[in-house]
Amino acid sequence: MAAEKSISSGLILDVVHVTEAAAIAASKLVGKGNEKAADAAAVEAMREAFNLLDMDGTVVIGEGERDQAPMLYIGEKVGTGKGPQIDIALDPLEGTTITAKGMAGALTVVAFSHSGNLLNAPDTYMEKVAIGPGYPEGIIDVDKSAGEIATDLAKVKGVPVADICACVLDRPRHDEIIRDLRSLGCAIRLIGDGDIAGVMQTALPGTGVDFYIGTGGAPEGVLASVALRCIGGQFQGRLVFRNEDEKKRAAKWGITDLKRKYNLTDLAKGDVIFAATGVTDGDLVHGVRRKADGSTITETVVLHAHSRTIRWVKTKLLG
Ligand code: FBP
Repeated sequence: MAAEKSISSGLILDVVHVTEAAAIAASKLVGKGNEKAADAAAVEAMREAFNLLDMDGTVVIGEGERDQAPMLYIGEKVGTGKGPQIDIALDPLEGTTITAKGMAGALTVVAFSHSGNLLNAPDTYMEKVAIGPGYPEGIIDVDKSAGEIATDLAKVKGVPVADICACVLDRPRHDEIIRDLRSLGCAIRLIGDGDIAGVMQTALPGTGVDFYIGTGGAPEGVLASVALRCIGGQFQGRLVFRNEDEKKRAAKWGITDLKRKYNLTDLAKGDVIFAATGVTDGDLVHGVRRKADGSTITETVVLHAHSRTIRWVKTKLLG
């Protein structure tokens, strides 16, 4: 089998320009109570930044389908059309509510892959479970309860199950997961929003989070998988359909097995690049800061699977 082609590392700086531009634009709306305006600002700035890049880009995970989204819709071509063919997954503002409320952890997120390497995930929910590197393959499964997963991880780590910490989105739909973990004495890091960062916490050193579990957006599941492909770890997801319309939309993207369990490389294969810039301060990166001299400082985490690199890029845009 031929070796998988790597994505040019020149695109690493390109992707940073895009997430930075969106973060700077969205940061002007932090705490303003207007989710739509914050998202629109990020989308517009992201699109403008993309169109300066020499690439033949296609949005495969974006703001929705063409009839729902005026910009960065699925299938939209971005870039000058002159460079490499790249598939793009994006979330111009991961944490619209966080941004509107002026809370921690909002990010702008973009991932690059070669054509056809990312799942065309419909805009539905997805059951998700994720762990960092170093565990036996197949130890996680969306059919296992939270308690079973915590118990299995504790055995491998050689620690009491009460030493296991899970990250969970704070939603009523997760009450059973939370009860299950509490009954074992596990710690839970409850997050208000932002499960891409929640999944990444499992794989980054020093966070104290052993696994992520719960239901969130499917597009965020693909983006989180790209990140784990770069840092290491395991992910499993299963799409959740709430009505016939969602099933129809999945069929449009060629999804026929509605109960399929997707592992990491079913969601993101080959070489991938992931970038996330902070809009507001969070566990991964600081948010946008404006200085008295008129300059603006951004912080971005950029991951590249092929070069096995994690970069923290701090940029000062002079005023
Ligand atoms: P936004 O990009 O819409 O702000 O998503 C934030 C988020 O918390 C995601 O990280 C998560 O996957 C999803 O919302 C969960 O959806 P819901 O808020 O409907 O529970």
